Parts: sequence; structure tokens; C-alpha cells
Amino acid sequence: MSLYDLSKTLVPPAETARQNEYAALVRTVLSARFDEPPRAYVHTYGCQGNVSDGERMKGMLRECGFVFTDVREDADLVLYNTCAVREHAEDRVFGNVGALKPIKNRRKHMKIALCGCMVQQPQVTERLRRSYPFVDLVFGTHVMHRLPEFLYRIYCTDEKVFEIPQSDGVIAEDIPVSRDSSFKAWVPIMYGCNNFCSYCIVPYVRGRERSRSSEAILDEVRSLVQAGYKEITLLGQNVNSYRGDVDFAGLLRQINAIPGEFLIRFMTSHPKDCTPELIDTIASCEKVERHLHLPFQSGSDRILKAMNRHYDREKYLSLVRYAKEKIPDLLLTSDVIVGFPGETAEDFDETLSLADTVGFSSLFLFIFSPRKGTKAASMPDDTDRAEKVRRFQSLEKLQAEHSARIAEAMLGRSFSVLCEEESRPGVLTGKTSGSMTVEFPGSPELVGSFVTVRVRERAGWTLKGEIEA
Ligand code: SAM
Ligand code: SF4
Ligand code: F3S
Repeated sequence: MSLYDLSKTLVPPAETARQNEYAALVRTVLSARFDEPPRAYVHTYGCQGNVSDGERMKGMLRECGFVFTDVREDADLVLYNTCAVREHAEDRVFGNVGALKPIKNRRKHMKIALCGCMVQQPQVTERLRRSYPFVDLVFGTHVMHRLPEFLYRIYCTDEKVFEIPQSDGVIAEDIPVSRDSSFKAWVPIMYGCNNFCSYCIVPYVRGRERSRSSEAILDEVRSLVQAGYKEITLLGQNVNSYRGDVDFAGLLRQINAIPGEFLIRFMTSHPKDCTPELIDTIASCEKVERHLHLPFQSGSDRILKAMNRHYDREKYLSLVRYAKEKIPDLLLTSDVIVGFPGETAEDFDETLSLADTVGFSSLFLFIFSPRKGTKAASMPDDTDRAEKVRRFQSLEKLQAEHSARIAEAMLGRSFSVLCEEESRPGVLTGKTSGSMTVEFPGSPELVGSFVTVRVRERAGWTLKGEIEA
């Protein structure tokens, strides 16, 4: 039995059918207006969840008759799929949209659209309305599946469309998807977040936590595997809070049981929902990577409490001890925020010591960025920027030593690696199951297939190896 009523969040099939009708209408309208198929430039910022949304948006654009271009100046439609997680991400979007003004002055028919997390904030839509009158379409995260209808409106009525409803969020199944890769696929399993970490904007712009049905996920993975996909990455802001008719561990076991040669990755796991059962499941599922991205954010209990993270340093460390004992070749990565309001030198030392104790293979470090509307944005912060940068750099230095040490320990070992791309002529790159990047000589025909690579040397923490016969 379902743990909650999915019917309340699912977009009804009649609505999906309505959007398909709009897509057909837009296609007809555009084919009468353009001599060649119109070109869309789609650029996505932010996390893999947003990248996955971007692929669905491209799927809908394709159904509407668009082809894709990487050259923004040649585009008939520019779509920015935005992120709000840090101020820097937003500044880049405003800069890029501003740069479109002279282009649109030359290409009057060019349509400009924005969607994603950033536009879900009222102050952003207000600024777009006021200062960017050449933007044609702005739509929020809860109505992405209605893109065909919005395109119909901007092309057929010449009105500006701003559709940014506040909502707890929906789940839209059966949206067409245009995947960027033919062998690596993103599969969202849940959306939204209920955790309200005090620094984070995501729960405000993505709505409440909601999980896709395991049936829909399994169907998607099965058809991807049948189509030759070799790497399936399960996505969610807190993937291990998944609550369908099974929990995340149960879902992993079901996906692992799908026949075929493929690798299962997942992100992001929240320490508060990372149970011993989940670790046992990872240990017992041969298709699941030996890698856990488990953000700890801070090593200080005082700061973790102020962040509203619902675990403490000891709980985190004991989880890591258990995981390393059960999965000896497990590699861990994490996210850390440096300079959270009120973080003292002693708090930061606790962060350094946690990173030193665990020994991550890599860390994603961020300097705290106040986000309007979050609790932390109004907390007193008396640490100056230069000190925050100094802390950032000392953590970066410590991490470089750990990454190098872990890379060193891989010398002489062999790994099954999915060849991801030809990074230079005759050189391929891929990742070990622990998610370390390795490069090796090989021909481009191998891209998209598994090979066994023996690691011979390292440059920093990039591994270099050879394919074993
Ligand atoms: N849901 C994931 C979790 O809880 O671990 C992370 C999602 S968030 C998109 C990715 C990372 O951005 C977080 O782990 C955090 O380190 C960082 N982040 C979020 N809000 C931030 C802020 N206001 N300032 C700096 N970094 C932030
Ligand atoms: Fe943001 Fe926290 Fe939710 Fe992650 S768990 S998305 S950091 S609120
Ligand atoms: Fe950014 Fe939204 Fe993802 S804020 S990190 S794109 S969920």
C-alpha cells in the first residue's frame, strides 16, 4: 500500500494530453512561420535535478518542432533553466539575460524564456518584470509540464506570459525527454524537500517532498536498460527520504534486480535518513556504485543545530564507520558550507577535523550565501569575507592531501569503468565505481561501454591507467 496518496500530486493524464495537443498546435504554427525548423538554445544551471528537468524541457521543445543550437546568437528561442542556491548563480543569470537585449534588438523575432528555481522567488519575477521587459516567458517549477501551452500563448497571442504559481508541487509523468547522453541517464525518484535547513532556498522553490511511484521508476529504468543505457543515476534532493510503496533501500534492491549490465548511482543522501539497512543494501547490490555522497555541511554540533540538519557530529561519524566496515572499498564525498553565520574559528576547526577523520575522496566547498526568506539570512554574521576565504582555502588544502592519498592507494588496482568521453584524441575518461575520474588510452568507439582499467599513475587526484586485455 502506498504510504501517501499519490493521486493528489500527480498531474492528471487529461492535462498531459492537453499539453500534447498544444505541442502539435505550436508545431503547426511554427512550421508556417519559419522556413527551417526553429532553433532553441537551452541552458541549465544548478543541480542534476535541474539538468534532468532541462532534458524534459528539451523533450517538450522537440515535440513543438524545435531543433537545438549551442550558439545563443543564432537561436530563435533562448531558455534559461535557472538555479537559486547561491547568489552567484543568480548574478550569472541576470548577466546573461541582460546580454540578450542587444541580440534581440537585432533579431526581433527572438523569444526569451526563463524557468527554474530562481524565478520561483517573488523578488526575482518582480525584477524581471521591471528591468527586463524584453523577456517573453517566465514560468515556475510547478508548471514546467505546461511549456507547450506557454509557447502557444507567446507565439499566437504575442502576450507576455508570467506563470509562477505557489504550490506544494506536482509529479508529472510521461513528459517527453530529450536526453543529453545515449548511455548515461538521470532518473528523478522524488522531488522537493521538507527539511528546511536554515540556509537553503530549495524547500521554498521546489515545494514539499513527493515521491514517484516505484512502478513508474522501474518502468523507466527497464526501458532505459533495454535501450542500451549503462549508467542510471537516481535523483532527489534527499534520495534516501524516498517514500513510495517501498523505501529507498527497497527501491535500490528492485532496480538492482533488473537484468542487464548497468551501474546504479544516486544522489543526494541526507545523513538523517541514511540507515544501516541502506548501507547493508548498497553492500549487497552488485550494480550499486561503491560511492556515497553524504553532505555533512559542518563538523560543529552547535552549527549543525543552527543549520537545522537533524544529526550531530557523532551520528555522522558513526554512520561513516559502519559504512566503511560493511563496504571496505567505499569512497565518500560531501558538501561543506564555510562561514555559516556565527561560525567561530573553533567551529571551523571541528569541520577540518571531521574532514580529516573521514578522509573524503572529494569535497564540494561553498562559502555561505545568504538567501532571502531563509532563517539564516537574518542571523548575525560577524565573520568577514577574508576570514571565510582563509577557512575555505585551508579546508581545500586539507582535502587536496586526502584526494591525493586516496588516488595513491588506487595505483596498481583494476576497476570496471564506463568509458564516458574522448577527452583528447586517443584518450578516454570514465569513473571508477567509487566515482574517481580515470583517463586511459582508447578508441572513441569504446565510449558508452564498460572496460577494465588498471590504474598505473596519478596526476594530482586524476588517475591514469590502461585498458586490460
Ligand atoms: N539536498 C542536499 C543535502 O541536503 O545535502 C543538497 C542540496 S543543495 C542543492 C547542494 C549544496 O549547496 C548543499 O549541500 C550545501 O552545501 C550548498 N548550499 C545550499 N544552500 C547554500 C547557501 N545558502 N550558501 C552556500 N551553500 C549552500
Ligand atoms: Fe536544502 Fe537541506 Fe533540503 Fe538539502 S536537505 S535541499 S540542503 S533544505
Ligand atoms: Fe539550484 Fe534548484 Fe537545484 S536551487 S541546486 S537548481 S533544486
